[in-house]
Amino acid sequence: MPRKRERLLLAVETSCDETSAAVLKDGKILSNVILSQDEIHSPYGGVVPELASRQHIKAIDFVVSESLQQAGVKLQDMDLFAVTQGPGLIGSLLVGLTFAKGLAYYHHKPLIGVDHLQAHIEAAFVENQDVKYPVLALLVSGGHTSLYFLEQPLSYQLLGKTRDDAAGEGLDKVAKFLGLGYPGGPVIEKNAAGGDSQRFKFSLPRMKTSGYDFSFSGLKTAALKIIKENNLDARHPELKHFLASFEEAVVRALLENVKKAVLEFKPDSLVLCGGVARNKRLRSHFAELAAENGLPAFIPSPRLCTDNAGMVGALAWKKYKLQGQAVLDLELDAYPR
Ligand code: KG4
Ligand code: ZN
Repeated sequence: MPRKRERLLLAVETSCDETSAAVLKDGKILSNVILSQDEIHSPYGGVVPELASRQHIKAIDFVVSESLQQAGVKLQDMDLFAVTQGPGLIGSLLVGLTFAKGLAYYHHKPLIGVDHLQAHIEAAFVENQDVKYPVLALLVSGGHTSLYFLEQPLSYQLLGKTRDDAAGEGLDKVAKFLGLGYPGGPVIEKNAAGGDSQRFKFSLPRMKTSGYDFSFSGLKTAALKIIKENNLDARHPELKHFLASFEEAVVRALLENVKKAVLEFKPDSLVLCGGVARNKRLRSHFAELAAENGLPAFIPSPRLCTDNAGMVGALAWKKYKLQGQAVLDLELDAYPR
């Protein structure tokens, strides 16, 4: 009997300000093209939703073609299509969703809808097949800061999330206030290099109720107060110390909840993911926390931390394999939240 050939999947991600497409063969990423809109949004200090969706419309065709070319395959070879359904900016989501539906319909192939936050967690599994469950996952991005417990594959228990700003949003807003540009996380990291992280004092947020929720608006307000009181700006000699102290405070606030949850939920693996997981201070403190608890830490390589279609394809493949979710669902809808 002839051996069944490998299955090819094309994934599309347009939930925020990256247009991305990836090709996967039996769940392995062959290509992962990411076109960032940073330059478009940088003058505004944050993502402008209308500009984001217009740019996705302009770029999607090229990005998909490029992903096919890099993988050395053709659209008609695809067995499955996958797309991010949400959460994200509604206009941006609809561009990817409509495009993917069109492809699936035309080629008579199944379309798998994927949750963007679950896809970020999946990024940690892409490079590591041996992640042991249960898993405790900290997701830190521009729009979300959440802690999840996964008893087994595809089971996501939300333990806590931010009650106000996401951690990345806090970094972006402080960078904007200092006129450092967008996105704030990388520019803060660059300018904090060599700074004394103890120079400026930040008290960590204290939640009134027990549990695993986060809060970053207090840290942001404290940062803006210090900036004003010390007349800090992009060229101030104290800037690197201030940014290192702020970065350290954000990292400590994030890890506080992870420490607590490790004791209560006793996971076998720790995962750190989302755009802010590119941050070196966060990566090293997270790895230390894991080592102190005798646990392995799985942190995706930087390119897989920020938004990319590779992680979307990887999760779609897992859903297809484990749940057999593969129908041409033209009713699939976008959800902003
Ligand atoms: O996951 P992501 O690409 O998009 C969302 O789903 O939100 O995350 C974007 C966030 C932005 O807030 C950006 O400032 C932050 O990730 N970020 C970083 C770094 N690189 C990106 N934050 C800290 N350090 C970095 N190196
Ligand atoms: Zn994201």
